[in-house]
Amino acid sequence: MIKLVLYIILFIAIIIALGTGIHLYRVAQKNQKEMNKYSSSVEADFKTGKTLVVFYSLSNKTRDIAQKIADLTNADLYEIKTIDKIVLNSYFYVQARQQLHKKQYPAIVEDFPDFSAYDTIFVGGPVWWYAPATPLLAFLDKADFKSRRVVPFSTQGSNYGSFFDDFQKMAKNAQLSDHAAFNNLSPKYDQAVQNKIINWINKIK
Ligand SMILES: Cc1cc2nc3c(=O)[nH]c(=O)nc-3n(C[C@H](O)[C@H](O)[C@H](O)COP(=O)(O)O)c2cc1C
Repeated sequence: MIKLVLYIILFIAIIIALGTGIHLYRVAQKNQKEMNKYSSSVEADFKTGKTLVVFYSLSNKTRDIAQKIADLTNADLYEIKTIDKIVLNSYFYVQARQQLHKKQYPAIVEDFPDFSAYDTIFVGGPVWWYAPATPLLAFLDKADFKSRRVVPFSTQGSNYGSFFDDFQKMAKNAQLSDHAAFNNLSPKYDQAVQNKIINWINKIK
């Protein structure tokens, strides 16, 4: 009997490992296809004016993209910070899902910059459960963009779900511009990511 249970557990583990492997392979193929489009370098020709980059980041992926945007556009950076530190462990995935379902977002520091001082405001964060991370939702709940041009961006493993639809619904008094989504990628794509950012910002009018 114990043997049978062990065989069943082993079988389930093999199926899960196989499914994960196939998923990761497909994501890698898709990433390669997308980033091949950005293999050649482009000249920056930005018309973003005085620029601010607002971001939330738990494990630094969004911070990296935000920093790249800020370096390219000579922008000010503003980090959304939660009052209580978030610890990323397996329980947190459950907690984040509950926060999203109940629309109970964490308290954040509310020392926002004066948005009216900027022509363009990039706003980005990670995707959590196919939606904007709850600290970013907390920020959108409080912020008034005062009719400024707002450019959303996300970072995610592979699927941003309703991130940009949710963003659009919550951003108050924002003139929204075309968004960009950045999958987590290995460093071999660093130059392609830089080219993708330049391509995207060049189109912002
Ligand atoms: C709670 C949680 C939920 C996540 N849900 C998704 C998801 O639905 N889709 C996805 O592609 N990635 C998902 N991810 C991965 C993150 O979006 C991705 O790693 C992101 O780039 C992390 O950004 P950060 O390092 O700035 O925090 C999730 C991560 C966490 C912690």
